[in-house]
Amino acid sequence: MLAMEDRWAAAKAALAHKAAERADGAVGLLARAGTLLTSGDATAAADLVRQAYAIDPWLHGALRLLLSASRTPRRDVVHERAEALIAAGFTATPILVHYLVSAAQLGRSDVVARMTRDFLRTDRLHGPDDPDLAELSAELRHGLRHYAEPEQRSIRHGLRRDDLREGEGAPILRRMFERLRPVVDRYLAELAHVAATDPTHPFLAGLPSRYRLGGWSVVSGADTHHLPHFHPMSWCNGVYYVEVPPVVAQTERRAGWLHVGPPEDTESDFGDWEARWIQPEPGKIVLMPSYFHHRTVPLGVDQRRICVAFEIYPADSPVLENPEFWTPVRS
Ligand SMILES: [Fe+2]
Repeated sequence: MLAMEDRWAAAKAALAHKAAERADGAVGLLARAGTLLTSGDATAAADLVRQAYAIDPWLHGALRLLLSASRTPRRDVVHERAEALIAAGFTATPILVHYLVSAAQLGRSDVVARMTRDFLRTDRLHGPDDPDLAELSAELRHGLRHYAEPEQRSIRHGLRRDDLREGEGAPILRRMFERLRPVVDRYLAELAHVAATDPTHPFLAGLPSRYRLGGWSVVSGADTHHLPHFHPMSWCNGVYYVEVPPVVAQTERRAGWLHVGPPEDTESDFGDWEARWIQPEPGKIVLMPSYFHHRTVPLGVDQRRICVAFEIYPADSPVLENPEFWTPVRS
């Protein structure tokens, strides 16, 4: 009989093998899609990319290769190929990221304006004296995992509880999702209104009629922050601020604030892509498309901020069909 450590090592090896197999399958499909794109058959290419995304929604790196079409990527080629896949009906988040970033780098203000417009929304779930807060805050600090500098995630030096799922867990967590849902419904209704005026919009075309929510808590201390990132596996995502420390009042330093805008790659000029800063407040909700890059500023002092990062998954999302994807999302 295997010792506990051996069983743990075997389970980890099996998981790693499964992940590698999945990645190989997706990369093979994308390689074939690349050939089809080069020959001008975007419809067939989009079918293969859709299959690859269903196998591995983390296909961002491989997708970048597909769109680059060469070792030295040209922004115009990336943009053209992203646009072709979108026109052929593949509008998942990773392709929208490449479409928007390449448009900004090329100075395509029209595309940047259409893709960013007023999709970033803030709302208010409650004020600072909400009766759920003490119990919710305690529950969100339950089962935390420390993240130092994980290679494939954006979090730095912070704690997370990774298993928040709508309809599951402690009653206080179920209630939290029940309260979030009407806010999300309102946001989606507003987006549906915009979609009626722009029915071929690449993001709005994917507006789900039914969705599920999932997420994780983030408990931030002095050094916790998030590098610029997006959420490749969902359609929209949000933040719900539960506990907000006094230091966020420092408006000059923007301690603990959220930055939403260009990914801030120093080698690129992102043209008209407008950035926005959001100051946390207890009960505040932020909602945005999952292709929007965002990052956070460390508190810089020994105080604590607790928020819930949540995602909106279309009910038919491949993420929902694969329980193994219900793990922390690479950001
Ligand atoms: Fe995020």
